Amino acid sequence: MKIKKVWQIYFSPTRTTKKIVTTLGDEISADLRTEPEEYDFTLPKMRESFPDISPDELVIFGMPTYAGRLPNLMLKYLDTIEGNGALAVPVVTFGNRAFDNSLIELRNILESHGFHTIAAGAFSCEHSFSTELGAYRPDWEDEEETKEFARRIAERLSAGDYDRLAASSPIQVPGDPEAGYYQPRDRKGNFIDIRKVKPVTGPRCVNCGVCVRVCPLGAIDPSDVTSIKGVCMKCNACVKRCTKGAKYFEDKGYLYHKEELEAMYGWQRAENQVFL
Ligand SMILES: Cc1cc2nc3c(=O)[nH]c(=O)nc-3n(C[C@H](O)[C@H](O)[C@H](O)COP(=O)(O)O)c2cc1C
Repeated sequence: MKIKKVWQIYFSPTRTTKKIVTTLGDEISADLRTEPEEYDFTLPKMRESFPDISPDELVIFGMPTYAGRLPNLMLKYLDTIEGNGALAVPVVTFGNRAFDNSLIELRNILESHGFHTIAAGAFSCEHSFSTELGAYRPDWEDEEETKEFARRIAERLSAGDYDRLAASSPIQVPGDPEAGYYQPRDRKGNFIDIRKVKPVTGPRCVNCGVCVRVCPLGAIDPSDVTSIKGVCMKCNACVKRCTKGAKYFEDKGYLYHKEELEAMYGWQRAENQVFL
């Protein structure tokens, strides 16, 4: 069997996961001489459905790591996806700390929804909360590593006894699917609860509405962009995509956690990890 299409499917509020998934998908498509197709389920409208996947297609499926797992507010949508026996590559991104248990969680979700996972990757990117932690990643070095990973996947597929590949799934990845969420703590070990924290809007706001359009939860009121009526997942799409710097967090616990992360992990360049 020949792969007819390479899907690039992702959730990506600050666009780093999109970069990794599309780089992978474009490179594999070029090597296999097939067409890539993108499905971005970051915005609520796109989560009303899921594309029809055929068994002769390959799916690169990307999600960011939130608190060591997948973003929990996306789990309901992930329960509606269907792979119909297609091959898949689960991909997670993380912000220079660790991906902990997000990759195994994504692999298990894909396997339980009819995908055969044949390779997997975890890529370190700029942290949603920060512009210092993993700054500017994915950079050219990450791009080279991503393309090399893509070439190895394409090689397997073109050499490929497709049925044997499918039968070898699931791909082995590290992590504990039963583990809880990573919990930020202060220096005394007390839990910092940022679950209810929301960004504020400063005087630089020109009411352009970009924050309303990029919010994955549709939480910002279009008639008053300073009002965040719905749940906020702290994805930072509104913060990083506001060209005026008008949206930001000023909650003390949130800022403390961000600064702790920068102090603890800012010095390192976390490695990407691939499995195949
Ligand atoms: C709520 C939240 C929790 C996060 N938790 C982690 C984490 O546990 N480990 C880590 O290394 N990065 C963590 N990150 C950083 C993201 O995984 C990382 O920045 C990712 O590349 C964002 O993907 P995106 O650009 O596609 O939105 C977290 C980000 C958010 C918003």
